[in-house]
Amino acid sequence: MLLNGQDGNELHRAAEALAAGDLVGMPTETVYGLAARADVDTAVAKIFAAKGRPADHPLIVHVLDEADALHFAAELPPVARRLIAAFWPGPLTLIAPRRAGVAAAAAGGQDTIGLRCPAHPVARALLEAARPLGVHGVAAPSANRFGRISPTRARHVVDEFEPGLLVLDGGDCEVGIESSIVDCSRGHPVLLRPGVLTPAQIEAAAGEPLRLPDAQAPRASGTLAAHYAPRARVRLFAGDDLAAQVAKHWSPTLAVYSRTARLADGPLMRRMPDEAREAARQLFAVLRELDAAGASEIWIEVPPSERAWDGVRDRLSRAAAAFEG
Ligand code: TXA
Ligand code: MG
Repeated sequence: MLLNGQDGNELHRAAEALAAGDLVGMPTETVYGLAARADVDTAVAKIFAAKGRPADHPLIVHVLDEADALHFAAELPPVARRLIAAFWPGPLTLIAPRRAGVAAAAAGGQDTIGLRCPAHPVARALLEAARPLGVHGVAAPSANRFGRISPTRARHVVDEFEPGLLVLDGGDCEVGIESSIVDCSRGHPVLLRPGVLTPAQIEAAAGEPLRLPDAQAPRASGTLAAHYAPRARVRLFAGDDLAAQVAKHWSPTLAVYSRTARLADGPLMRRMPDEAREAARQLFAVLRELDAAGASEIWIEVPPSERAWDGVRDRLSRAAAAFEG
């Protein structure tokens, strides 16, 4: 059920649902989240059940500020504080050591906790309405069923879950792909998931180099090889190859999403923006639209190799991997 995120009464209703241990669909600037109060394990269990997500995959806890982050983190290491100063509120999740005995279900049993301070005004208004009711943070994975495309519109969330779910409408998400995740719990900062912040921006704020995940890195479902999949089969092609392949294998249900190929007009032919931020903003909505329009396959041009495109390239290669092997 859709609630107006601008309406104080409807925000209060959603805050009361959270306080009572129920789920709420919540807009953030990255993607919509499926939220439950993070301090009550039975409330968090409803997220795993609704998504069909394995209970050992940790969730991100959303907080209003650094003070509330310390309800869940045992400490915020100096590098985490520098990243918070630079990027909160905004599309950056930090992994920190977890406060003992708090939010065990949200953490998927790990001794660390993922923390993010969203910038979206409706997410902030919801957290502000919930705080006086005793809620200091909400666990919220992307509001999609496990392995599917993250939602960037309220309507996507309503369509994905049972009709009784309260979904706050906060309009279309500005960022469009999930937050960058930096693990600050193990001495050196490690980039677990790329987002729209470039590694150079994160390193400048951290004051030290970012490492890439190694075998000991905690498992992150958003980092599984096969994820973010639409129903249609996704395949990636280099720009100069795409047009030739489309000409050779054209079918009425073949969808194409390309920056540089010359495309015929048609409902399944979509132009990818030239700018990485704009491409990220549209990405998941375009995949959903092509799915809904009846595409059997979606052929996509591999994005440019610049770091600004890391987040988009990462999501597309996982969407394509869902159909391999
Ligand atoms: O932009 C976002 O981050 C969105 C919005 C709703 O805030 N949320 C989101 O959540 O993408 P989710 O659950 O779909 O992805 C969370 C990622 C997962 O890959 C999870 O494994 C990782 O964060 N994560 C959470 N806590 C962690 C921890 N303690 N250690 C390692 N990874 C963690
Ligand atoms: Mg997700």
